[in-house]
Amino acid sequence: NKIVLTYSGGLDTSAIIPWLKEHYNAEIIAFVADVGQGEDDLEGVEEKALASGATKCIVYDLKEEFVKEYVYPTLKTGAIYEGTYLLGTSMARPVIAKAMVEVAKAEGADAIAHGCTGKGNDQVRFEGAVAALAPQLKVIAPWRIWDMRSREELLAYLEARNIPCKATLKKLYSRDANAWHISTEGGELESTWNEPSDAVWQWTVSPEQAPNEPEYVKLTVKQGEIVAVDDQALSPYQVLVTLNERAGKHGVGRIDITENRLVGMKSRGCYETPGGTVMMAALRAIEELVLDKPTRSWREKLGAEFSHLVYDGRWFTPLCKAVLASANAIAEDLDGEVVLKMYKGQVNATQKRSANSLYSEDFATFGADEVYDQSHAEGFIRLYTLASRIRALKEQNLAVG
Ligand code: ARG
Ligand code: SIN
Repeated sequence: NKIVLTYSGGLDTSAIIPWLKEHYNAEIIAFVADVGQGEDDLEGVEEKALASGATKCIVYDLKEEFVKEYVYPTLKTGAIYEGTYLLGTSMARPVIAKAMVEVAKAEGADAIAHGCTGKGNDQVRFEGAVAALAPQLKVIAPWRIWDMRSREELLAYLEARNIPCKATLKKLYSRDANAWHISTEGGELESTWNEPSDAVWQWTVSPEQAPNEPEYVKLTVKQGEIVAVDDQALSPYQVLVTLNERAGKHGVGRIDITENRLVGMKSRGCYETPGGTVMMAALRAIEELVLDKPTRSWREKLGAEFSHLVYDGRWFTPLCKAVLASANAIAEDLDGEVVLKMYKGQVNATQKRSANSLYSEDFATFGADEVYDQSHAEGFIRLYTLASRIRALKEQNLAVG
């Protein structure tokens, strides 16, 4: 009897270890996914897992895989959930779940367990991935089973078993971080009438505190992926780390939204995605130059569809694959360079060029030109509006003339 638990080192998953052992008489293998949440979270995590009673703690470095295989493909679709959320937590769940399934298979485990509550999206994302990848695995979600509800109870539970835990009674917010973003929910944010306090924001300074001088950054885009920052070639994860730091200093990438969870309730969250916001802006700039109107419109439909697929835990589905294939085909032409200006919470693409650009000064000029015969527009508009004219003539009983 073996259970693989997605372990974070926090109070919840620390209490889950002894609880699983007592209720399932099983050996617990703690699985820690490094998706770029930061060293503070990972420090001493193995010792903590063993101290809580796990037989083993397995740490996987998923940082590059996360950005290359999940973030970049999502970026190419342009997915933004409900118009603002850049899907940071949502995109990380499938890469973690996939690795967890691998560990379960390698260890011969028959079940996996997670620390998500029964009220959120994350449980659906984890279990959706497991259903698609390893339906034979049983899933245990202690928060949906046990009757503990508060940090006091969890701490008392550990204390009664002499399990050391440095977690404190007071923890204001529920947070989730990875290379792409950090999310903050709970605390004063539970009232939509409260402005987020300074304590909410972790990766970005407030626009008011940001430098009075703008900073420029140049990104090189190849087939819809950012491959260099200021002409320095970097791996996907390194691009993100570099841009998080530079954009965070200028207060870029903060959002504060009330969103629709998959399970039906609304929730309020503050998300910081500094580097991702800059990357998005760079891709949009190249798209502006390269994509014609119907292709651009199709890409927007892909993004709208994909935002729900990712948010709703449907990464490992045929539809997800189909949308990604389409977005990839469009991204083949997305090459170029963009200079972005970061200033007081804003990022704007101020210079853009692409070898595949369809923008032509010869055609667009308001001055004299030789290439565009304005008299052709009349015939175009007469046919383009023909249906309107036929209807109006009929409604107004006018003769065609
Ligand atoms: N509401 C966001 C989402 O559903 C963030 C969830 C944060 N998760 C967490 N375990 N704190 O993607
Ligand atoms: C949770 O409930 O575990 C976190 C929030 C969410 O999944 O939406």
